Amino acid sequence: MLKDGFGRVVDYLRISVTQRCNFRCLYCMPEKPFSWTPKENLLSYEDMFKFVKVAIDEGINKIRITGGEPLLRVDLDKFIKMISDYKPDIDLCLTTNGYLLKQTAKQLKDAGLHRINISLDSLNKQTTQKISQKDVFDDVMAGLQIAKEVGLGIKINTVPLKGINDHEILDILEYCKNQNFTVRFIEYMENSFASQDIKGCKSKDILKTISSKYEFEKQPRNNTSPAVYYKMTDGYEFGIIEPYEDDFCESCNRIRLTAEGFLIPCLYFEDALSIKEAVQNGDMKEACDVLKKVLLNKPEKNKWSKKTDENETSSRAFYETGG
Ligand code: 5AD
Ligand code: SF4
Repeated sequence: MLKDGFGRVVDYLRISVTQRCNFRCLYCMPEKPFSWTPKENLLSYEDMFKFVKVAIDEGINKIRITGGEPLLRVDLDKFIKMISDYKPDIDLCLTTNGYLLKQTAKQLKDAGLHRINISLDSLNKQTTQKISQKDVFDDVMAGLQIAKEVGLGIKINTVPLKGINDHEILDILEYCKNQNFTVRFIEYMENSFASQDIKGCKSKDILKTISSKYEFEKQPRNNTSPAVYYKMTDGYEFGIIEPYEDDFCESCNRIRLTAEGFLIPCLYFEDALSIKEAVQNGDMKEACDVLKKVLLNKPEKNKWSKKTDENETSSRAFYETGG
């Protein structure tokens, strides 16, 4: 079992397989052109898998593949199959913008993927284009339906932004409820790469909007979920992710691997160590030592938590760590 310096059990590994993305979301990487890490700096799937095996042997039982946009990296289904063959009962999920799901959902499911989280910020073509800076709506909606048909579990992530998509909170909630998708509204997290012109909605704004039409009850926090869930009278539950809240980090059970091989102990923490050399040399003891060192470095709270003194804008890019 893996534990961090504060006694938290860490059993969840997020792997970013690429920084690249085919969208330019205002809250993530609005700038274009964008300078990417050259492909040769990326860890190969084989090297990543060497680390994954160590991590699983040490107690990781949930893996999420993220990006950038993970479906941009070729042969992702093969990587998923490597993991799934090694530990068939692992909880294996993917976070995607949905654009390429139409042509990949079935392969991914067949390779052993269980669940996906899809970003859906609007049900309107123009608003979607405004946020992602690309005409993507029809492909994302088609991908979403195919993912549902092939039997992937689906959660929706929505980042409500003031004056852009916040008038759609109820529509998105109702759409997800009807489709039987869980929706989580995520408070916009400021970071130095995002557009400086946007303002996110706070959870109280989101809850106020929903309470104008529905009754709901706050649920006790599930230990390992970053979201707080609210149950509506018909039993449907929606979530809100508030990274600024103090209790957000208490239950954190995760660690992140970037596409270049850096292990990051916390999304809003700058310390990271590389496993690249160790895995490329086949030195798995060293890779395991790096993992344990990074875990000891895992901070008690993220930098935005209200209780920390060093409240500051994160320069950790979402496209690097996959959120
Ligand atoms: N604030 C909040 N959520 C963000 N995401 C990306 N950037 C931000 C941000 N600055 C979300 C996306 C995606 C998930 C991986 O992270 O909506 O669903
Ligand atoms: Fe791409 Fe996701 Fe970032 Fe949007 S939020 S630019 S889809 S990585």
